[in-house]
Amino acid sequence: MKRTILVTGSSGLIGSAAVEHFDRQGHKVIGVDNNMRRVFFGPGGDTLWNLARLKDATKNFVHADVDIRDRAAIDSLFAAHRFDLIVHCAAQPSHDKARDIPLVDFEVNALGTINLLEATRQRCPEAVFVFLSTNKVYGDAPNEIPVKELATRYDYTRPEDYDGVDESCRIDRTLHSLFGASKAAADLVAQEYGRYFGMKVGIFRGGCLTGPAHSAVELHGFLSYVVKVALAGGSYSVFGYKGKQVRDNIHSHDVVRAIEEFAANPRTGEVYNMGGGRENSISVLEAIDRVGQLTGRKLDWRYVDQARKGDHICYISNLGKFKSHYPNWKITRGLDAILEEMVEAQRAQSTVK
Ligand SMILES: NC(=O)c1ccc[n+]([C@@H]2O[C@H](COP(=O)([O-])OP(=O)(O)OC[C@H]3O[C@@H](n4cnc5c(N)ncnc54)[C@H](O)[C@@H]3O)[C@@H](O)[C@H]2O)c1
Repeated sequence: MKRTILVTGSSGLIGSAAVEHFDRQGHKVIGVDNNMRRVFFGPGGDTLWNLARLKDATKNFVHADVDIRDRAAIDSLFAAHRFDLIVHCAAQPSHDKARDIPLVDFEVNALGTINLLEATRQRCPEAVFVFLSTNKVYGDAPNEIPVKELATRYDYTRPEDYDGVDESCRIDRTLHSLFGASKAAADLVAQEYGRYFGMKVGIFRGGCLTGPAHSAVELHGFLSYVVKVALAGGSYSVFGYKGKQVRDNIHSHDVVRAIEEFAANPRTGEVYNMGGGRENSISVLEAIDRVGQLTGRKLDWRYVDQARKGDHICYISNLGKFKSHYPNWKITRGLDAILEEMVEAQRAQSTVK
């Protein structure tokens, strides 16, 4: 059945992957993006190249240059289309950036999210709403899990932690960064629209979401920024924990497939951790090494002996809950496949320039 789908943050990494996926299936896709990533991060964060690519690659995609903070504009959009699915990816996505722009960060992440939830409740309450939240809602609570130091990474000590952090991790009384706090506010409000109003809302708490369509910058987009620096030049800074901090990485395609599974069998106000899991986990040191092998270039990097405030020492998403609710879903892109695709995309981009 042909559906009408709203994707916010449609020129970004996850939004653009969602647009392409649902457009390919013949649905009508409306994308909202005002290129605010450029405002946050400067020219390196500009997403217009991705918007131009999407326009070429799609059939039924319509772009709206709307700011999600603009409640009247959002309401007009919801009055003009009756959405079946809302995939909410627009955000100020950086931990560190939020420190410089606390009010804008909160307005985009928290107010923008409730604007969309309320428009959904008023105009299409039966629609499915998926909110891209973050593992930063746990603040630094995951750092309380005991870890051991190995040659190139930290890892959990206790066998019961092997599969990573699950959704029972607490989200308050921890250090979040302002970004984590604004996303936690949005995460709670989204849960409430599910639990209180009975709406079909799913909340995905992302680990490192990754893929070739990231407009990577130092403050956001870990793996693709390592690849970018390796191939396009510049220097990479590693902050604290000897570079042994661990991230789990999931390809944008697998995130979109998870959204699709949830939309087909939605629940009300359910929260899921969404990352690459243990198999797709890598430390910063290991990533630098692997990217060096794949590109044949030695990355120019330096160590800064101060960890980012609230940074996770070892974060692996436990995917057990999502897999048990949606057994058709699995990770389809391993780390090497992710990295090889990124290297290819970065090489293509450098050639175009
Ligand atoms: N990439 C990650 O590693 C990661 C990890 C955890 C959670 N997330 C979350 O997943 C979601 C998608 O992340 P992403 O990596 O695709 O981010 P992204 O920055 O690539 O995409 C977000 C898009 O939203 C747009 N945008 C920002 N403010 C807007 C506004 N006020 N109005 C309209 N558009 C606006 C930006 O221009 C950008 O294109 C975000 O909510 C992010 O917090 C991402």
